[in-house]
Amino acid sequence: EKGGYEFFMLKEMYEQPKAVTDTLSPRLKDGDIVIEELGMTDEEIRAIKKIYIIACGSAYHTGVTAKYVFEGLARIPVEVDLASEFRYRNPIFEPNTLAVIVSQSGETADSLAALREAKSHGIKVLGIVNVVGSSIAREADNVMYTWAGPEIAVATTKAYSTQLIAHYLLAMKFAKVRGEISEEVFQEMIEDLKRLPAQIELLLANKERIQRFANRYLATEHVFFIGRGIDYAISMEGSLKLKEISYIHSEAYAAGELKHGTISLIEEGTLVSAVLTQEELYKKTLSNVQEVKTRGAFVLAVTNAGNIEIEKSADYVIYLPKTNKYFANSLAIIPLQLFSYYVSLGKGLDVDKPRNLAKSVTVE
Ligand code: M6R
Repeated sequence: EKGGYEFFMLKEMYEQPKAVTDTLSPRLKDGDIVIEELGMTDEEIRAIKKIYIIACGSAYHTGVTAKYVFEGLARIPVEVDLASEFRYRNPIFEPNTLAVIVSQSGETADSLAALREAKSHGIKVLGIVNVVGSSIAREADNVMYTWAGPEIAVATTKAYSTQLIAHYLLAMKFAKVRGEISEEVFQEMIEDLKRLPAQIELLLANKERIQRFANRYLATEHVFFIGRGIDYAISMEGSLKLKEISYIHSEAYAAGELKHGTISLIEEGTLVSAVLTQEELYKKTLSNVQEVKTRGAFVLAVTNAGNIEIEKSADYVIYLPKTNKYFANSLAIIPLQLFSYYVSLGKGLDVDKPRNLAKSVTVE
């Protein structure tokens, strides 16, 4: 059943190009994005005043990325909430708000409760769900399925990647209907979307190099992940992946926030992963890289191909193929998934079933 792979997580990472294609292609038609299951007229899309994205764990991290994408492209204000917080904070429900609940399993107790909370206030709920017929899929007003197929490993990889695709498609669709994007840019972005599966495959092919690197860090105790904007969202996911399966303590930090406290933890040899995919923020994060470097950190940088001057400041660099800036998460997360996987494997842990964790969290 593992198809020759040692663990489901590796198999599922390798299924990402297909999962992305399967989620993407049914919604691309004649140069347009068609999401029939959205159940919204263009008029309703134009009327949206605010979007709540509500989820837990990695699904929440896709929401953090989506906030940048929706706000940047469609100019719709987005609030991203942890489902376990949303329920108890007495959120403000106004007309023309759309609630998006993101969940692989469709059974996460807090996400389901948040869905019910939103619905009971008359807010339209869209589910982005992987498991067909699950509770969230059944109770949402509309469901946009991610077609990742069954995910067995506790650490999510392919479902995460398909959730990102669902957000991109929605944001692009909303941007187009609301007249916020030119046809030319829209078409370029569709081409970039279509290139993602092959680009993910290319990054996966780099696995031996990442395994060699990971094997140097099996005994490490703390890792910091830094980035700005979407790169911060990527860092949050990279950090969760590592903690979850390798039991190494890690933290994701907005790079500009380091000097407000955390930099005191950096010492000789501390591993810092820096993500720099957003060109307009590149120089800012580069200076944060230099700051941690001066304090003795070992820096792993994930950045766009061509940014070779980073090699003066970072110790180890992974280059990403070119894509639209809003899609960078889909590429940058691949080496970070592989890194976590190989640290866990190298430590001889049960990669697929980390201690204390369940695949779907059906208790609050
Ligand atoms: O099934 P869901 O997407 O609702 O699950 C949400 C989280 O429990 C999940 O993403 C969790 O954080 C993953 N194990 C992370 O890899």
